[in-house]
Amino acid sequence: MGRHKIALIGAGNIGGTLAHLALTRDLGDVVLFDVVDGIPQGKALDLNQCGPIEAREGALKGTNDYADIAGADVCIVTAGVARKPGMSRDDLLGINLKVMKAVGEGIKAHAPNAFVICITNPLDAMVWALREFSGLPHNKVVGMAGVLDSARFRHFLAEEFGVAKQDVTAFVLGGHGDTMVPVVEYSTVAGIPIPDLIKMGWSTQERIDAIVQRTRSGGGEIVGLLKTGSAFYAPATSGIEMAEAYLKDQKRLLPCAAYLDGQYGQDGLYVGVPVIIGAGGVEKIVEIQLSGEAKANLQVSVDAVKELVAACQNIDESLK
Ligand code: APR
Repeated sequence: MGRHKIALIGAGNIGGTLAHLALTRDLGDVVLFDVVDGIPQGKALDLNQCGPIEAREGALKGTNDYADIAGADVCIVTAGVARKPGMSRDDLLGINLKVMKAVGEGIKAHAPNAFVICITNPLDAMVWALREFSGLPHNKVVGMAGVLDSARFRHFLAEEFGVAKQDVTAFVLGGHGDTMVPVVEYSTVAGIPIPDLIKMGWSTQERIDAIVQRTRSGGGEIVGLLKTGSAFYAPATSGIEMAEAYLKDQKRLLPCAAYLDGQYGQDGLYVGVPVIIGAGGVEKIVEIQLSGEAKANLQVSVDAVKELVAACQNIDESLK
C-alpha cells in the first residue's frame, strides 16, 4: 500500500501544527491548503526544513489550489476566521458558513472518499454544514470537540488528584463550549469513578464542580491569555488522534461530534457522543445510559446546536 495523503484545509495556527504533527508521526504525505497566497507555501517550506533534523521523509506541499488535495485519505478542516471583538456569534456564523461552502465543494470535487474532520467553530453547526455542502456520507464527516474537551478535563483532574494524566479517563458529551456535558460518573482514575474518589476523600464535590466549569470555558481561558488568537496545540493534537484512528483502523472509542439518526433521541443533528473510529469512519455510535442530570444537560446542549443549525438555514436557503 502506498503512503496515505492528508489534506489540511486552513494553514493557520491549527493547520500548521497539524502539519507538523502529521509529519512527525509519519501518518503520510501532507498537503496544506489556504486561500491566502504564501502562507501555506511558507509554512510548508519551514516545516520541510525540519525534516533533516527530525530524520523524516514525508512530503509536505503548500498550495492555494484545491486540485492538490486530489485523492486525500483524510481532510482536516480549520479554515475560517476566529471571533474578533465586536463580532456577534451570527456574524461569525455567516462568515464561516461561506467558508464551509467553499471547502465542502472543494472536498466533494477532489477528495470525495476522504474521512473529513471539521475543527472550525462554531463546531457543531459547521460540521453539519460542511457535511451538507460536501454531500459525503455522514459516517465520513465528523467534528473534533470531545477529544479536546476531555483532554482538558483529564489534565485538570490529573492535577487535582496528583496522578499521571494517562491514568485519567474522562467522558464528555454534547456541544463544544459552554453547553458541553462532562459526565463525572463515567470519568475515572484507572477505573475508579470520580464519585468514588470523592467518597475516598481525594477531592470534594465543590472542587470537581469548579473543574467541570473550568473545562467548559477552557477555550475562553486560553483566548483571554493569548489575546490575539485561540488555542491550537491541543486542538491540533486532538484532530491528529482522530485522523490516526481512521488511517490505522484503530477502533478507538472517542468523543466526537457525530451525525445522529435516532441515537440519544436525536435525529439529523451533529452532537458530541462517544463513537468508534476505524477504517470505516464512524463505525458505531455508542449509546450509554445517562443519569437524569446528564440527560437534561445533554438536551440543553442539543437545543443550543439546533439553534445554530437553524441560524445557518436562515443565512443559506440551500441548507433548508
Ligand atoms: N479556505 C481555506 N482557508 C481559509 C478560508 C477558506 N475559504 N478562509 C480562511 N481561511 C484560512 C485563513 O487564511 C487562516 O490561515 O483559515 C486559517 C485559519 O487560521 P487561524 O486564523 O490561525 O485560526 P486557527 O487558530 O487555526 O483556528 C481555526 O478552528 O478552533 C477553530 O475557532 C477556531 O474556527 C477556528 C479554526
